[in-house]
Amino acid sequence: MRRTGGTRIGRIVFDEATIAERVRRLGQEITAAYPDGELLVLGLLKGSFVFLADLVRQIERTLQVDFIVASSYGTEKTSSGAVRLLYDPMAQLEGRHIVLVEDIIDTGTTLRCLLDLLRARSPESLAVCALLDKGLIAEPPAELRFVGFQAPKAFLVGYGLDHAEEYRHLPFIADLS
Ligand code: IMP
Ligand code: MG
Repeated sequence: MRRTGGTRIGRIVFDEATIAERVRRLGQEITAAYPDGELLVLGLLKGSFVFLADLVRQIERTLQVDFIVASSYGTEKTSSGAVRLLYDPMAQLEGRHIVLVEDIIDTGTTLRCLLDLLRARSPESLAVCALLDKGLIAEPPAELRFVGFQAPKAFLVGYGLDHAEEYRHLPFIADLS
């Protein structure tokens, strides 16, 4: 057990070194998957911000970065089921390879809604890179091409993931006790 800001978090599920090594390999996978064309790495805020910052530094080709803001969770640990888009990327998506970067796939509701929105913009290709996948989706969409780790069904925080907006700054991923 470790205390951060007076609040208790539980077991460390993925430590810093484990995350760094997996992110390095994901960067290599993405580099190899896009031999040509324009690549836009599109981060879903806020949860992906730490992961995306590390990931793009492991991709060895030209690329651009933009962000999309959506909201599906309130302050509770359960999904509201509704996805609101709060910021639409200024970047043109048509004709470009898009890699949507997500922190974690839980029920898959957020992913499904975002894929519908992004497919409608006629990108050259569309893929998803999720750091964590709880493995709850019965039929994952074909776009889910890059996954960092299979995650336990616990509620996880750290490395961008929050609970009620806290813990995003932790350099590791832990469960909440
Ligand atoms: P989904 O729509 O149910 O797949 O939920 C996806 C979103 O919910 C993620 O982008 C996270 O913001 C949030 N979320 C789901 N599970 C967790 C968790 O274990 N910890 C922190 N946030 C989570
Ligand atoms: Mg969240």
